[in-house]
Amino acid sequence: MTESTTETLSSAGAQVLADKIRSRSARVGIVGLGYVGLPLAVEFAKAGFTVTGIDVSEDKVRRVNAGDSYIGDIASSTLAPLVESGKLRATADFSAVLELDTINICVPTPLRKTKDPDMSFIVSSCSEIGRYFHAGMLVILESTTYPGTTDELVLPILAKSGMEVGQDFYLCFSPERVDPGNPKYQTANIPKVVGGCTPACTEMGRLFYSQALQHVVPVSSTQVAEMVKLLENTFRMINIGLVNEIALMCDRISINVWEVIDAAATKPFGFMPFYPGPGLGGHCIPIDPFYLSWKTKQAGIEARFIELAGYINGQMPHFVADKVQNALNDAGKPVKGSKIHVMGVAYKRDIDDMRESPALDIMMLLQRRGGKLSYSDPHVARLRLEGMDLESLPESAAADADCVVIVTDHAAFDYRGLLQRATLIVDTRNALKGVNSTKIVRL
Ligand SMILES: NC(=O)c1ccc[n+]([C@@H]2O[C@H](COP(=O)([O-])OP(=O)(O)OC[C@H]3O[C@@H](n4cnc5c(N)ncnc54)[C@H](O)[C@@H]3O)[C@@H](O)[C@H]2O)c1
Repeated sequence: MTESTTETLSSAGAQVLADKIRSRSARVGIVGLGYVGLPLAVEFAKAGFTVTGIDVSEDKVRRVNAGDSYIGDIASSTLAPLVESGKLRATADFSAVLELDTINICVPTPLRKTKDPDMSFIVSSCSEIGRYFHAGMLVILESTTYPGTTDELVLPILAKSGMEVGQDFYLCFSPERVDPGNPKYQTANIPKVVGGCTPACTEMGRLFYSQALQHVVPVSSTQVAEMVKLLENTFRMINIGLVNEIALMCDRISINVWEVIDAAATKPFGFMPFYPGPGLGGHCIPIDPFYLSWKTKQAGIEARFIELAGYINGQMPHFVADKVQNALNDAGKPVKGSKIHVMGVAYKRDIDDMRESPALDIMMLLQRRGGKLSYSDPHVARLRLEGMDLESLPESAAADADCVVIVTDHAAFDYRGLLQRATLIVDTRNALKGVNSTKIVRL
């Protein structure tokens, strides 16, 4: 036991929970078994804890209990032995909370159409937890959210029990930084920031994560921890917005933006390369900064960088659709009636996640202009979209297309073969880097 642990977790109740965590006999619960929750559940089960996942999706519960993974980064061969040995199970029944010592909440936090945060998943899962909540528990919110959520929204729900935070139970926020499809950094080796409502909460959170994860970074409050995630994602969103604007400028004055970035990236200090693309996608970068702007607006500060980058990034699918139309025009084919084949529809390479994918906007825009759309994606078998119900075609379908658009540069694609088959390629990712061909139109 470290000195700070001894001092901060001095009450008898705290000692009991801390001992359970250290001996790995604490019963761990993960609420929400998606891209974030399932890998976390697996990590704690691998560390020797008995883990219960709670999810409202009966299908996910059934698949976890069958050892059948639906998350790309978790192989079924990793999941199944943990389920078979009784280390990991899933349920849709929140009464399982009665048996748990810790809970990590990993439910969705989307935006409403008005770009206001949708807190309904956090509220409903916390209300369910509240029904079975008991003394001596550690609860950690991991869903990305606006600063203040843990103290202002979650704490009042749990405090209805009449128990006192920091004494009878422990509450923290810890931002999730998982990067699906990243082979180098996964749940276990991405440093974990954690901040609690009280110093005892922070210390309990630190102790908990340090059992299963390699680096834990305690911070002074839940608000700091919440803001860390929003800084990280806002940083990315704005830098992508900047480089997208540079790409639009380079396009206008006929400079290859990719070559510019690669050369600039040789500077060993003070520059970090970001790359342009067909638009933002996924659950985080297009959404999270708006949690921050929503919150700060209430405090009288307009988040002008966020609004501007959001506008520029939102223009990219239109820019790509225009590029395709112009490329077809130059080839003497009007977009109306042309066959357009999209390579990759997931929001980024080597994953199956379609949320907010720019491919969806690009395909809708081109369809509205009269294009006949098809696609290939080894990770997405079927796509239903505004009157389109498409199945992923073999890559050879590119040979029949008037134009191929590389939207997502999956590693599994045969780019050499594509170059031979296709007559016209709009490459939004520089997937054909270094190839000189009049067939290629680059972003
Ligand atoms: N996916 C990422 O790469 C990523 C990275 C960092 C942070 N995050 C954040 O983590 C959170 C979760 O994201 P995700 O990608 O894992 O989402 P997800 O949609 O993959 O998973 C969420 C799960 O929660 C379940 N769920 C919904 N309501 C519930 C309820 N009331 N009770 C129990 N389960 C419920 C859903 O059925 C689903 O299985 C979000 O706030 C997201 O912004 C995601």
